[in-house]
Amino acid sequence: MNDVIRTMMAHRSIRKFQDRPVMEETVGDTVAAAQCASTSNFVQAYTIIRVTDQEKRRVLAELAGNQTWVEECPLFLVFCADLNRLDRACTKLGKEMVRGYTEQFIVATVDAALIAQNTMLAAESMGLGGVYIGGIRNDPQTVCDLLHIPDGVYPVFGMCLGYPDHDPEVKPRLPLGVVLKEDGYTGDGDEALIGIYDDVTSDYYKRRTSNKKDDSWSQQVSELVSRVSRPHMRAFLRGKGFAMK
Ligand SMILES: Cc1cc2nc3c(=O)[nH]c(=O)nc-3n(C[C@H](O)[C@H](O)[C@H](O)COP(=O)(O)O)c2cc1C
Repeated sequence: MNDVIRTMMAHRSIRKFQDRPVMEETVGDTVAAAQCASTSNFVQAYTIIRVTDQEKRRVLAELAGNQTWVEECPLFLVFCADLNRLDRACTKLGKEMVRGYTEQFIVATVDAALIAQNTMLAAESMGLGGVYIGGIRNDPQTVCDLLHIPDGVYPVFGMCLGYPDHDPEVKPRLPLGVVLKEDGYTGDGDEALIGIYDDVTSDYYKRRTSNKKDDSWSQQVSELVSRVSRPHMRAFLRGKGFAMK
């Protein structure tokens, strides 16, 4: 154990924030540290948009499914996968970027996710807490219109950050043996471990201090993946220049 590991293992999403601003220096330090994340071929294919305008926040909160914390948190960031800057680098040097390949989409999306998780961790290391907001993909075109997001760029998710005003329990993760395999993929032994994990998560949901429910990991995810989720994404991404060739 060290402080980094302790911080990582204490992660839990924060959705209630103290009425205390996050200092500019803290914002700058957090993002500067996050930028040190590895990045595919050094492309740094992301842009983070900080949203301070309250009306924009209100719209984002609503389209994310009335997630009030989007409006209320002291700091709200939108993490975008960004190929537009690479296009401009080509223009600068008289080259033409080949566009629309699935690989480029993966590179930019992974880059955005890496800097986002580094942002979360850096913020948590300074006493802040936060939550990702995939809900902005409920209506990604409106997000683009609102934040003037151009072609070649798309909002992957948002993130609320601030000083926590509640202290939720850490959510237990899948047993190590289920996610860490050796020398090849196998599902052997998973069933028994997941059975135990379902009991652990069921117990967690029953005992936690708020939003108690009768649920388990398998119940939760099977319900999730037996529904269609955001079927508009393919057409939206194509429209933004992510043609998935
Ligand atoms: C990409 C992504 C999108 C998410 N979107 C939302 C969201 O829109 N609203 C929300 O309340 N939580 C959201 N979450 C938080 C997850 O629900 C949460 O991380 C998960 O349940 C595990 O809980 P924990 O973070 O407290 O450990 C999102 C997490 C990720 C990684």
